[in-house]
Amino acid sequence: MATNTDKVDVVALHDEFFNVIAEAFPKLLHLHYGCTPASEDSRSLFGLVGRSTRGQLRLLDEMCAAAGMADWPAASHGLDLGCGLGGTSLELHRRYGFRMTGLNINRQQCGQARRRVDRYGTEADIAVVRGDGTGNPLRTGSFDFVVAIEIAFHVGRKDRLFAEVARVLRPGGRFVLVDQEWAEETQAHELMFYPERGTYERLAADCGMTLERHVDLSADVARWMVDYARMASPALSAATVLGIGLSGRPRLAWRFAKGFSFFNRFVLEDAGTRGLDVEGVGRWGAVRRLRQFFAEELASGRAVHGVWVLRREERSN
Ligand SMILES: C[S@@+](CC[C@H](N)C(=O)[O-])C[C@H]1O[C@@H](n2cnc3c(N)ncnc32)[C@H](O)[C@@H]1O
Repeated sequence: MATNTDKVDVVALHDEFFNVIAEAFPKLLHLHYGCTPASEDSRSLFGLVGRSTRGQLRLLDEMCAAAGMADWPAASHGLDLGCGLGGTSLELHRRYGFRMTGLNINRQQCGQARRRVDRYGTEADIAVVRGDGTGNPLRTGSFDFVVAIEIAFHVGRKDRLFAEVARVLRPGGRFVLVDQEWAEETQAHELMFYPERGTYERLAADCGMTLERHVDLSADVARWMVDYARMASPALSAATVLGIGLSGRPRLAWRFAKGFSFFNRFVLEDAGTRGLDVEGVGRWGAVRRLRQFFAEELASGRAVHGVWVLRREERSN
């Protein structure tokens, strides 16, 4: 069946929307989900944005703790696969002194990440390289560890992604993956490819990596998602576009408005393919409903958001 978003390049429009967000908010560093512990599960709309940002840093705390990064040598060289705006590279360098290389497929995001790295004066320790995680230009065996936060669910050929990680890791190096697995494989457009349970451990084993630790963050991510769902509001979106326009950037405000429009249409179709009843709720209602659905799936344990700490064997066969 032909759909609205079939007629357009969904990946290009999705990238454009995130490029606009990156341009509009130069201080934004993270494009990943977050963790909200039960102690902070507020029903209040007040403090929503602050809670969301704290949640994103908490997800990094959980990742670092799961992998035991505090005990790794400061001289370690890490690859930040799908580095987005460079926030993870910056944070790992700031916390532990690691030398980092960020890799991203999106040219504009690479530029945005470089600008952020320059702003913090860390360009000597953090390189940003443009490339595809499923076939990258990086040297074999040149990294002590690889982190990948929420890139794997964007990649259809996860076998290639894992093979490339195994290739660039030194023997004994670690792959720290933060991502999702669902009860059954689920795809939305050519952008989201959620694998079924057990996929990451199997793919890792296929290329000589073994699971050292898995930490399930689903309950905390589900709580964070509830806030994320509440952020999908016409008033908040209109205020954002207006704010950008009033700050003297009318073209950017216009691109933002167009980006919202595409994103909502994309979500509406995604909700439809999952069989969610979004009849009569409007576009913003559909965004909320889809995010609530994610929260329910995570809270029920049907979907898992977690950290997989994988270790490349000392000797590959
Ligand atoms: C959800 S964002 C997460 C960004 C970043 N890891 C973070 O935590 O803020 C996914 C990122 O993966 C990047 N990406 C998607 N497919 C990729 C691929 N095949 N190779 C490299 N990067 C990719 C996107 O451009 C985007 O920056």
